[in-house]
Amino acid sequence: MIVDIEKIVYGGKGLGRIDGKVVFVPFVIDGEKVEVDIKKEKKSIVEAQLKRVLEKSPFRREPLCRYFTVCGGCDFQHIDYNHQVNIKKENLNESLRRIGRIEHIPDIKTVPSEKEFFYRNRAQFKIYGSNIGFYKRESHTVIDIDSCPLLLEGLSSLPTRIRPVLSLFMLQPSELHVFSSKDEILLKIIFSKKPKSIPVSLKNIKKITGLNIKGVGIYYKKGNDINFEKVLGDKHLYYKVRDFKFRVSMDSFFQVNHYQIDKLIKIVSESVSGSKILADMYCGVGTLTIPSSKKVEKVFGFEINRFAVKDAIENAHINRAENVEFFPYETKKAVDFIVERGIEVDTAIFDPPRTGLNKYIIEKISSVESLNKIVYVSCNPATLSRDISSFYKRGFKLKDLYMLDMFPQTYHIESIAILERSL
Ligand SMILES: C[S@@+](CC[C@H](N)C(=O)[O-])C[C@H]1O[C@@H](n2cnc3c(N)ncnc32)[C@H](O)[C@@H]1O
Repeated sequence: MIVDIEKIVYGGKGLGRIDGKVVFVPFVIDGEKVEVDIKKEKKSIVEAQLKRVLEKSPFRREPLCRYFTVCGGCDFQHIDYNHQVNIKKENLNESLRRIGRIEHIPDIKTVPSEKEFFYRNRAQFKIYGSNIGFYKRESHTVIDIDSCPLLLEGLSSLPTRIRPVLSLFMLQPSELHVFSSKDEILLKIIFSKKPKSIPVSLKNIKKITGLNIKGVGIYYKKGNDINFEKVLGDKHLYYKVRDFKFRVSMDSFFQVNHYQIDKLIKIVSESVSGSKILADMYCGVGTLTIPSSKKVEKVFGFEINRFAVKDAIENAHINRAENVEFFPYETKKAVDFIVERGIEVDTAIFDPPRTGLNKYIIEKISSVESLNKIVYVSCNPATLSRDISSFYKRGFKLKDLYMLDMFPQTYHIESIAILERSL
């Protein structure tokens, strides 16, 4: 079957049409004519597989990684980087138009990643048998890899270097999480059962891998929970971003693109500048809270993860942020706290997980009369668009919009939407 690819949709696949039905094809580029095999056919949608490119896009290039198209990690290695950014900009625009039904979308400012490869400071490897790697595309089979070109240079060969260490354990781990501040590395080894003993010291792990590993956490799974067992060395790293230093434990979230964190901080802290009382509703270790505190009178940071809150309190201390208070509250409790205490928040930062916000949170925070600005950092344009639409019903309007590329080579989109309410 021959298909003309009209555009790349959110999720990374190309969209074309066959006999009036919409067809989705991975690893193609808008403007290409391709030959495909049909994989799955539903009432109005066809899932297809690329067989041959008949007319190539000028943006097509050779992928860097030999696992590309097999490994589930990347979607866009075959596309020139500038065009990847344009695709994401268009996806964000379309999502706001179609899901959010926003009529006047401001011009989206794009912030491409300084590095399109070797940018990730963290990764979660899966382990199965002798395979260490990532899940195969659309499956739960682990493919064995020897390196990954998305990881920071010092980390990219980690699968090869860590193999001899993992083989020392009686019990095979099921996952290996890696964190790097460029200078130092932390590992989190996760077993499917509680391990009886740890057969290797941190000194030997450093010697075997040749890497500057600062700490190794041993964890095991129990149902859906991941329990901490023991740590060899330290449980946290320090990241330097602009003039700030952040302590991040292996149990806390941190932004993944080493080269984009400072740009995210700059956009957010400049957009809250001049506010009196700021609330950072998903504050993590204080990455956005602490730099923003320098531009406002008072900040409240809320975060569900108690390890991240501990890091955030330490980070306020390290960075001499004296006008910040952190609370280990999940967002519902945080909005109730703001309303019940009558805290006159005028600006709120939301940087939620992919699921976005719920109705209760949107309604309750919008009921705070003093609130006139929202800075919404999102990693999911669909939930962002849905939530912006709800904020519109409560008098907010989209004033400024950024697509900051945190995830080159993948379809994932990070955006920053600035909403204002005119009272
Ligand atoms: C995308 S991260 C953003 C963190 C921070 N803004 C940053 O830039 O590093 C989302 C954060 O929300 C926290 N979180 C998830 N669900 C939450 C909830 N219901 N209430 C409060 N925090 C939550 C996570 O632990 C995580 O630290």
